[in-house]
Amino acid sequence: MSKTSHTPRVFSGVQPSGAMHLGNYLGALKKFAILQHEHECLYCIVDLHAITVWQDPTVLKQQTREIAAAYLASGVDPKKAIIYPQSNVRAHTELAWYFNCVARTGWVNRMTQFKDKAGKNTERASVGLYTYPVLQAADILAFKATHVPVGEDQKQHLELSRDIAQKFNNDFNVPDFFPLPEALTQGPGARVMSLRDGTAKMSKSDPSDNSRINLTDNADIIVKKFKKAKTDMGVMPAPGEDLSERPEVDNLISIYSALSEMNRKQVVAQFEGQGFGVFKPALADLAVEKLAPITLLMSRYLSDPDEIDRILLAGAEKAAEISEPIMRDVRKIIGFLGA
Ligand code: AMP
Ligand code: TRP
Repeated sequence: MSKTSHTPRVFSGVQPSGAMHLGNYLGALKKFAILQHEHECLYCIVDLHAITVWQDPTVLKQQTREIAAAYLASGVDPKKAIIYPQSNVRAHTELAWYFNCVARTGWVNRMTQFKDKAGKNTERASVGLYTYPVLQAADILAFKATHVPVGEDQKQHLELSRDIAQKFNNDFNVPDFFPLPEALTQGPGARVMSLRDGTAKMSKSDPSDNSRINLTDNADIIVKKFKKAKTDMGVMPAPGEDLSERPEVDNLISIYSALSEMNRKQVVAQFEGQGFGVFKPALADLAVEKLAPITLLMSRYLSDPDEIDRILLAGAEKAAEISEPIMRDVRKIIGFLGA
């Protein structure tokens, strides 16, 4: 992590809007557990972001617990890191409004995730979906967080967060009040692609379940999905071979690398010239070895929802203790009466 004049603080969030998959694990969760040993960390379940598209209230509650269980099962320790639901800490919504008045519509118009999520009929998308990245900036900056572990798809949102922080500091002449948060996207798992199409991101919303490995998939399903994963007529590449025309093979090598802690070069060297009939089962075994304990732990945590709720409510209290003094300063800086 690079140095800033601010105390390092880590913040990230995952939406409770569908099952967690291998991309979420490698792009985000795996890093959460590692970072908690060296830094103050807040890991949020961003239910306010989830409701930018319709969510059934009962399902939302259940999925919030499922994300919490996935955090815990991936090794996030509530004694070390703060985990909590976004809706339980008021600073998010409050700062999001202030930032709506700082961010320019031109900046928000450039966000590609809105275009992807809204589809063709943008007029029917909620206003919340449009201003979603502004809420994300508020999430991070309500805690003056400096570092944000996320997958590569979030880089553009992080740039917007920096722009908003910078403009606030300039507009109110408070240089360095907000840090300019940095995305932590290093590593081979930052952009895990679909198992059916190496040019599309592995995603919760892909209609084909075979496109992703869910954290709830059992060993048989994982093996089957890797067996069916799209490849080509060739064999495993030689060192230095250009894989730009073989995105599916490239992706499977990245997944192997991210799961095994071997770098890509080592993976390529190990499997050079082998058929996919050898590589795919090896990859499936590795995935089962790494994911099965997480799946098991997730279901153990989920069998005691009251305990999850206790952890989340205690986390929300701790998060509010950090954000409140920051919000008091923000209100004063803006010039609100009584602040
Ligand atoms: P989401 O499921 O969109 O709320 O994403 C939660 C976290 O997982 C974010 O940090 C994303 O950047 C990350 N993520 C989602 N999909 C992928 C993927 N296919 N590869 C790597 N990271 C991902
Ligand atoms: N937008 C992120 C995603 O779709 C989730 C998110 C919301 C987030 N607020 C955040 C990630 C703050 C990092 C920091 O994955």
